[in-house]
Order: sequence, then C-alpha cells, then structure tokens
Amino acid sequence: MPVYSEKVMEHFMNPRNVGEIEDADGIGEVGNPVCGDMMSFYIKVDDNHLSDVKFKTFGCGAAIAVSSIVSEMAIGKTLEEARKITPALVAAELEGLPKNKYHCSNLGAQALNKAIDDYLKKQGKKVKNKKRREKDERE
Ligand code: FES
Repeated sequence: MPVYSEKVMEHFMNPRNVGEIEDADGIGEVGNPVCGDMMSFYIKVDDNHLSDVKFKTFGCGAAIAVSSIVSEMAIGKTLEEARKITPALVAAELEGLPKNKYHCSNLGAQALNKAIDDYLKKQGKKVKNKKRREKDERE
C-alpha cells in the first residue's frame, strides 16, 4: 500500500479546477492502457497565457491529485512555460509520489501538453515534437 504525502492527500480530497470548459480552446485526453485510468484537460488561452485550466480524471487518487496540482501549476503560465511542467516537477510539487505511482504524474503532464497541441493545431500552427522544441530553445 503506497504511502502518500499530505499534499497528495489534500489535493485528492479537495481537487482544484475539476470540470470541463465548454468552449475550451484546447482539449487533451490521455489514458494509460495498463491501469485503465483516463484524464482530460481543458484549457483557455488568452494572449499566449493559460487563463483557465480544468480537468476530468477517472483514475486513482494519485492521478486526481496530479491533475489538480498540474492545473494549479499551469494557470497563468505562458504556453512555453506550461510545456516545462514535467512529471518530475509535478511529483516534487506534490512532495513526492510513491515509485509505483510515477506513471500517474506522466499522465498529467501529457494531458496538459496534448491540450496545448490541440490549441495550436486549431490556430493552424504547426505542432513541433518535444525534441524539436527543446532544440529550438537551445538555439
Ligand atoms: S494508477 Fe494509473 S494513473 Fe494512477
């Protein structure tokens, strides 16, 4: 039985930003075929900033806490800053996750990234893959 930090428990019991944005600018959906958990992120973008982020998660307690913290971390950030929310940062922000729950933090970062991809596609912008983005940033 994994031992969760107080912060994980707190976000699991009182998740922030739960729900759906009806006129979302971007939607990202991911699922983990192994555990069967699913996560959807909805974003609103204003002037290249995430003005609102909501989520719906059908999954374990860690996945719910991850979604909640990712939404808090992302709101107010630029799209480029939001891309830098990695699973490791998510786990650190939650004061740690048990090893067998790391994949839950991957889902959160992936779902947010997919929502940003979706937004960019809808804007008619080309979506660069992760490697390309990192390369461009270095140059
Ligand atoms: S057990 Fe699959 S997301 Fe947590």
